[in-house]
Amino acid sequence: MISELKEVSRRSPHESKIYSEFSHLYDKIFSRFFCERINSVITDLNIPPKAKVLEVGIGTGLSLAAYPPHCEVTGVDLAPEMLERARQKAGENGWRHFRLLEMDALNLEFPDNAFDYVTSFHVISVVPDPVRMLQEIHRVCRPGGTVVIINHFRTTKPVLGPLIGALDPVTRLLGWSASLRLSQAFTGVPLRIEKRFKTSPFSLFTVVLARNLKGIEVRNGAVH
Ligand SMILES: C[S@@+](CC[C@H](N)C(=O)[O-])C[C@H]1O[C@@H](n2cnc3c(N)ncnc32)[C@H](O)[C@@H]1O
Repeated sequence: MISELKEVSRRSPHESKIYSEFSHLYDKIFSRFFCERINSVITDLNIPPKAKVLEVGIGTGLSLAAYPPHCEVTGVDLAPEMLERARQKAGENGWRHFRLLEMDALNLEFPDNAFDYVTSFHVISVVPDPVRMLQEIHRVCRPGGTVVIINHFRTTKPVLGPLIGALDPVTRLLGWSASLRLSQAFTGVPLRIEKRFKTSPFSLFTVVLARNLKGIEVRNGAVH
């Protein structure tokens, strides 16, 4: 089963193709836009010792330096070229708390409840089925675990929303969708959004912190 999935990924790199082809340019272009936000969000999580963390679509590993070495981080990505750069960074820095695996975010090859934290940065509007990706994240995250998503979501503001949505055909050529709404992505997935914010007033990106409600009783709005 696992080898079949790997075979499919190898044969059809679909939406990760552009990242495979431009992996050598990725850090040069995006580190200045993404790194600071990713680092501050991970640091603020105060991940405890021995926590198991999964990062979905880890790319070239812009986030690696932010994870404390006392936790165990698994990073997955569909593009081997992006992963190779992440592996190189981990190797050069002697970071032993990472395992980096080629895997499809829509078919995570992990058992249920395997992780305490699941993070994903700038990926959910890249995959063809964002709801499926969140369902997979929900499945592999333990009950009460934390899910952290950073992404651009289409604003609900009357003029700006349709305007940005109209750019969708162009952004799709660049490998991501400008039309994804937050509510659309989280539809029917039992993740409770506990906090959503932007790290600066004009940022295009929203940070979403959610709790996995799987198997957890909610009484009077409180989780027990
Ligand atoms: C915009 S990059 C973000 C990379 C990294 N998270 C960051 O913030 O720099 C999107 C990443 O998602 C990966 N990706 C696209 N589709 C995927 C899929 N179905 N499964 C896993 N990774 C995927 C791409 O290969 C790429 O590395």
